[in-house]
Amino acid sequence: MSILPKNAHGCPYLFLAPMEGVGDRCFRKAMASIGGFDEAVRDFLRVPINAHVKSLAVEYQAYEIAPFPLAAQIMGSDPVLMAEMAKELENRGALRIDVNCGCPSNTVTGRGAGSSLLKDPDFLHEVVKAVVKAVSVPVTIKMRSGYQDTSLFKENLIAAQETGVSYLTLHPRTKVDGYGPPAKWELIAEAKSLLSIPVVGNGDILSVQDALDMLETTRCDALMIGRGSVINPFLFHQIKAHFSGKSFQPQWEDILRYFSVYLDDIPQETSHRTRVNKLKQLMSFLFKGNPSLLKKRQQILTSQHATSDSFMEFALPLFKESWSHF
Ligand SMILES: Cc1cc2nc3c(=O)[nH]c(=O)nc-3n(C[C@H](O)[C@H](O)[C@H](O)COP(=O)(O)O)c2cc1C
Repeated sequence: MSILPKNAHGCPYLFLAPMEGVGDRCFRKAMASIGGFDEAVRDFLRVPINAHVKSLAVEYQAYEIAPFPLAAQIMGSDPVLMAEMAKELENRGALRIDVNCGCPSNTVTGRGAGSSLLKDPDFLHEVVKAVVKAVSVPVTIKMRSGYQDTSLFKENLIAAQETGVSYLTLHPRTKVDGYGPPAKWELIAEAKSLLSIPVVGNGDILSVQDALDMLETTRCDALMIGRGSVINPFLFHQIKAHFSGKSFQPQWEDILRYFSVYLDDIPQETSHRTRVNKLKQLMSFLFKGNPSLLKKRQQILTSQHATSDSFMEFALPLFKESWSHF
């Protein structure tokens, strides 16, 4: 079986993107309670210089959202430590190791990791090759289109492929772009025509139509969705329903379960203030889901609540009024 199988009716394999902060374990578990995606990628595990990989690797729980597979992602610039970390994660049951070549954060790139690897294709090759050699599970890369600009785009793609990675996910923005300008899907098409390994398309998929447009314009092999799934947790189901020609009707019970799983997974010791802020962060995405929700977004974000219970009592009815028109 190919490493990137297709779903029924030709629907591509669907990934839930790694999203440090927003897409933490609470979110992944809540998403797993709704389902629809085929595999998730955990947000990056940083592998700093002098890392003690054994203690870092415990953060990864391979069966966290079982039955959904959860790949591990590592970010660092020391080939030896990256290889050790990958091995440790493989021992902890990781089905796949993804190497982060895209994180734009300056604290990260300052140390030569994340998107900094895109400044030097030879170094990218060295780091990723070390990981590929260290483990027997598939290794993949998630990358942006460049650091300052796309002048090394092709070189980075070739360097990545030559490491022996199984496939590559492309978020076609440079580090300097951040999340600002629209993702340049034409670069995904370029990667597809240049490479022989599969390419996962990522960036700005917010609707079923976006997913179809990306597939058509890029011919990519699979799709990865990040923010679109926080805005609309049913998006994966909607994409699959489109391919199977069925209609998909989200249920309010699913939303209630989503919130309940999310809340249950927030560690007990978390302060009320942090809980409320976490929920506001989640709602700040959910309330972008349609124009009538968007109108209420500010009201939600500026509301004052001492506990997560009182916040939910306030937010849920507002959400319920227009949630079903994702
Ligand atoms: C809050 C946030 C955190 C992110 N954290 C990670 C990360 O840990 N690893 C990674 O490879 N990409 C990370 N990304 C990038 C996303 O995985 C994805 O490539 C990007 O958001 C574009 O896809 P989207 O338009 O579907 O969101 C993050 C994005 C956001 C918005």
